[in-house]
Amino acid sequence: MTTELIRHELQLAPRMARLGTETAFEVLSKAKALERQGRSIIHLEIGEPDFDTPPNIVEEAAAALHAGWTHYGPSAGLPELRQTIAGYVSRTRSIEVSPDEVVVVPGGKPIIFYAMLALIDQGDEVIYPNPGFPIYESMINYAGGTAIPIPLRQERDFAVDPAELESLITDRTRLIILNSPQNPTGGVLSRRDIERIATAIDDRNILVLSDEIYSRLQFEGEPFSIMSLPGMQDRTILLDGFSKTYAMTGWRMGYGVMRADLAVHFTRLMTNSNSCTASFTQRAGIAAITGDQTPVDLMRTEFERRSRFFVDGLNRIPGFSCRMPKGAFYVFPNIEKTGWLSKPLADALLDTAGVAALSGTAFGRFGEGFLRFSVANSMPQLEQALERIASWVQQNL
Ligand SMILES: Cc1ncc(COP(=O)(O)O)c(C=O)c1O
Repeated sequence: MTTELIRHELQLAPRMARLGTETAFEVLSKAKALERQGRSIIHLEIGEPDFDTPPNIVEEAAAALHAGWTHYGPSAGLPELRQTIAGYVSRTRSIEVSPDEVVVVPGGKPIIFYAMLALIDQGDEVIYPNPGFPIYESMINYAGGTAIPIPLRQERDFAVDPAELESLITDRTRLIILNSPQNPTGGVLSRRDIERIATAIDDRNILVLSDEIYSRLQFEGEPFSIMSLPGMQDRTILLDGFSKTYAMTGWRMGYGVMRADLAVHFTRLMTNSNSCTASFTQRAGIAAITGDQTPVDLMRTEFERRSRFFVDGLNRIPGFSCRMPKGAFYVFPNIEKTGWLSKPLADALLDTAGVAALSGTAFGRFGEGFLRFSVANSMPQLEQALERIASWVQQNL
C-alpha cells in the first residue's frame, strides 16, 4: 500500500446537478467579504425583518428552556402548538382546521421541500410563479418534476393571470404554486384573481401550494387564501410560519396545513430528516400566536412607510421606474431604461456603489429587467442607498 495520500474524486449523485440555490445568501457573503476589506456596504439583499423578535416570545423561549423543553417532541409538532395553529388558521381563513391537519417544521422552506418530495415524480408538471422564490424551481427540478413558469408581469401588478394559468394546465399538472404577498415583486392576488384561479383548476385533481408566509404583511385589504374557497381546502397545502410575521427568521419555525392523510406523509418526512422542530421554540410559537399582535402591525406599517419612501426615491433616478408593492418588504424596480441587464447592474451597484441588491434574474428568467431591494433596513440606510445609486447612475449612465 502506498503511503502517498490519494485525493479521491468527489462523486455526487446526479440529482445534485438539478438543485438550485438562493442567491441572496451568496450576495450576502460577497457583501460581507467586501466589508472585511474595509468597504462600506448597505445591505438590501437579504429577506429578513431587521426588527428584534418581540420580547414576550423571547421570554417564553427562555422560560421553556429553563423548564426543560429541551428534548425531542412529536415529529408533527407539540399538540398545543398544532391546536393553536389550527385555531389561528381556522379564524384567519374562515375554514375549519383540526390539529391533525397541521405539521410544524423548522421554517417555511421544509414545506416546499416536503411537498415536492411527497408529490412530484419524473415528468410531473408544477406551475410556479416566475419571478418567484427561487427554492420553488430548485425543488421542482430536484424532485425530477418539470418546472412550468407562469410569468408575473408588471402590467398586471405582478399578479398571476388566471387565463394564462389555465392555458398552462395539462394532464400532467400535479401542483400549482401561489405566493401572495409575493417575493420578490410585492404583488398580491386579489380575491377575484384567486376565485378565477380556482375556476381554472376546476374539479381537476391538482394540489395548490399556497405560500402565505407574508400574509400578515399585506398593506391594504385582508389577505385571501385559496384554501377558503369551497372545494379547495382538500386540494390546498397552506404554507405559513413565524419567520416574517414575528421577525423569527433565525428560530426556524413554520408550518403546513393540509388534509390529514397528506399530513401523515409530511410528518414521516420530518421523522426522516429533522425528527422534530426544537421544542422550546415551539413553546414560544404558542406565545407568538396568542400574545399581543401590536409588534406585527407596527412592522407592517413601518415596511409600508419605507417601501413608499424607497419607491419614490427610485422613481427620481433616471432609468429606474418602480411600482408600490402591495405587501412584504421588497421593492422591485424596472431598470430596463438604464440599458443594463439586471445581473451586471446588481454586481456594479455592489462593487462600485456599495449597495447590495439582488438581480431580478435571481428569481427566474422573467425577472430580467428588474432588481430587488429589501427595505428591511433603517430609513437613514435607505436614504443613503438612494444617494449612492443616484450618484452611481449620474457617473455611469
Ligand atoms: C416566499 C417565501 N416562502 C418561504 C420562505 C421561507 O421562509 P423560512 O425562512 O421560514 O424558511 C421565504 C423566505 O424568504 C419566502 O420569501
